[in-house]
Amino acid sequence: MPIHFHKKNLTFHMQNDAISYIFKVLQNGQLGHLYYGKRLQDRESFEHLHTAYPTPSTAYVYEGEETFSLDLIPQEYPAYGTTDFREPAIHIRQENGSRITQFSYEEYSIKKGKPAIPGLPSTYVETDEEATTLIVSLTDDYLNARLDLSYTLYENHPVVTRHVRIYNGGKLKLYLDRILSASVDFIDSDYEMIQLSGAWSRERHVINRPLMSGIQKISSTRGTSSSQQNPFMALKKPWTTEHAGEVFGFSFVYSGNFHAQVEVDHYQTARVTMGLQPFDFSWLLELNESFNTPEVVMVYSDKGMNGMSQVYHELYRKRLARGTWRDKQRPTLINNWEATYFDFNEKKLISVAEEASDLGIEMFVLDDGWFGKRNNDKTSLGDWCVNRHKLQDGLTGLSEKVKSLGLLFGLWFEPEMISIESNLFKSHPDWLIKVPDRHLSHGRFQYVLDFSRCEVVDFIFRKMADILSEAKVDYVKWDMNRNMTEIGSGNLPSERQQETPHRHILGVYNLYERLIKAFPGILFESCASGGARFDPGMLYYAPQAWVSDDTDAVERLKIQYGTSYVYPLSSMGAHVSAVPNHQTGRILSHEMRAAVAYFGVFGYELDLTALTGDEKEEIKQQLIYYKKYRELFQKGVFYRLYSPFQGKQDSTGWMVVDEKKDTAIVSYYQTLSQPNPPTFKVKLEGIDSAKLYKVEESGYTAYGDELMYSGIQLPDTRHKSDFQSYTWTLLSV
Ligand code: DGJ
Repeated sequence: MPIHFHKKNLTFHMQNDAISYIFKVLQNGQLGHLYYGKRLQDRESFEHLHTAYPTPSTAYVYEGEETFSLDLIPQEYPAYGTTDFREPAIHIRQENGSRITQFSYEEYSIKKGKPAIPGLPSTYVETDEEATTLIVSLTDDYLNARLDLSYTLYENHPVVTRHVRIYNGGKLKLYLDRILSASVDFIDSDYEMIQLSGAWSRERHVINRPLMSGIQKISSTRGTSSSQQNPFMALKKPWTTEHAGEVFGFSFVYSGNFHAQVEVDHYQTARVTMGLQPFDFSWLLELNESFNTPEVVMVYSDKGMNGMSQVYHELYRKRLARGTWRDKQRPTLINNWEATYFDFNEKKLISVAEEASDLGIEMFVLDDGWFGKRNNDKTSLGDWCVNRHKLQDGLTGLSEKVKSLGLLFGLWFEPEMISIESNLFKSHPDWLIKVPDRHLSHGRFQYVLDFSRCEVVDFIFRKMADILSEAKVDYVKWDMNRNMTEIGSGNLPSERQQETPHRHILGVYNLYERLIKAFPGILFESCASGGARFDPGMLYYAPQAWVSDDTDAVERLKIQYGTSYVYPLSSMGAHVSAVPNHQTGRILSHEMRAAVAYFGVFGYELDLTALTGDEKEEIKQQLIYYKKYRELFQKGVFYRLYSPFQGKQDSTGWMVVDEKKDTAIVSYYQTLSQPNPPTFKVKLEGIDSAKLYKVEESGYTAYGDELMYSGIQLPDTRHKSDFQSYTWTLLSV
């Protein structure tokens, strides 16, 4: 049993081959944190792991006992108001105005396996042997409320997942103003905090800062997890590199407003908290109601940042993503967005599809603009009826023609949105998220449907289901293009208004779940103005996501590099687009554009009918290459070699290796030309030092140790032009 309970000291020790996580019941009944990190041997008592010194000038729980102050004691799920002055994990407003809670240990249960969290996405197991779950129950006797802290330890991964359930068994109304999913108190703050931050078109750039005294927080209040901050954070030691040293990763399986924070206190301890964003959140819990928080996935690595990423990749690819497409090779696609925007008709689309079929592309995706009067972005969201001026034979006719070319057929939706200029708005003006008597702001001329209303979710489900079955759709791109403002629901009483954004996300999950059940064969790709909802919550429903609206390969180096901190290559939609690039105006070779997009789920997003003969030949070869190594690109073990955020070479490097270490593909990208460049060798990772590899591109052979420790020398072309890529395919001989 990988979870030990030591009765005498009421201590829990979760332990697998890689990690230990230890906590105990404190003398006031709360839980005290003892250790999280590399595996420790089990023993009867861990009392000595942390003893508080008596300290002056704080508050103490008991008279005459100057060590028992929660100000000093590392805790497991800290509450507000009783000698701990840091921000808590839980904060409950009560009818009498009190915010004090005292949740004390009641009982525990340990079970094999991992239960799902009702209505929420979470990592899972396929057999009960894969994980063990510990639930520690705490009760507040005055409130008659029960808190279940749930911990799952994966057997073969350095992973602990956490979430919390609260149940109100009393007569008092409880207002959950803050109910986070995880809190970990580290006894020192000698760490750097890594976050993935950005904006539209430059999502998930890596930011690294030393922890400082006070609060450092990343979060979202936008109604989406956001392109500004990803729901991920890691603490690493200052000396930890990509491939060595300790890292603690925290990833939140949620797609809306979140909070991820480190608070460094006056003793230089560091409290990590993660969960639903408490700002402008409150959830009313009445008698016999319960509330579940989303899941936090904690990964410990002593193999550097890349080691942490590989754990997330494997877990999220195999035990978060689900369904028919989880393990299947994903089709290469052509998406018409950057080729036509709103300006298309059936003839144009079919000519693109014909070219796609000739080139060897496997799926045609019709993006925005096919419904209502959608000739620009000011109109028709919510009117999910085909525009017969553009598509005379409807979607069914188009789909049949596309399929007769041997292609799969994919379709774009933006299910959560409504345009004022739409029939849906005329018939249901109250279905929007809005606040009465207040001006309502727009984003891209559109408004958010109130998915906290079941009837709205039902309506959109029926509309989508009809189209998906009639047009025999194989793939859905689910877009979401604005942040929430003036948040309120006409469906909820005043005391529940702050539940609206979370209820919306629950509605989104509900719609996804119903569609997945009804159409198990459809491949879903999530999207939110590119990568504004690239989060683990979405991956539970849609195994791939559009990384960014920025298709410029140089920009993509940073975006894909940052995204790879948490998310596997099989989740990253990556397309070759036209030049000059529509986002940056940059002109890059086809080779460079493809060499970046290979490291993801590959596709094209340009007007194939405008290509020259040479370009067509190049694309054909790219598709042959990608398909040949698709399994490796989508499922290989990924290593980051050179960071676009650091280093002197103005370069990026990464590689994928198959599990047997027989095949590897390495790409190195140099952004700016280097006059008179010094000798530079690209050092590889993760291959077998004893195996002999042939480098396909040059015929040269070398042992794994030479390739890793001495490296592959770059050809003497770095001074020739900006934006060069070098790709090597290694096959063991
Ligand atoms: C934003 C997406 O990220 C794009 O790929 C495209 O689908 C547009 N929306 C369509 O409006």
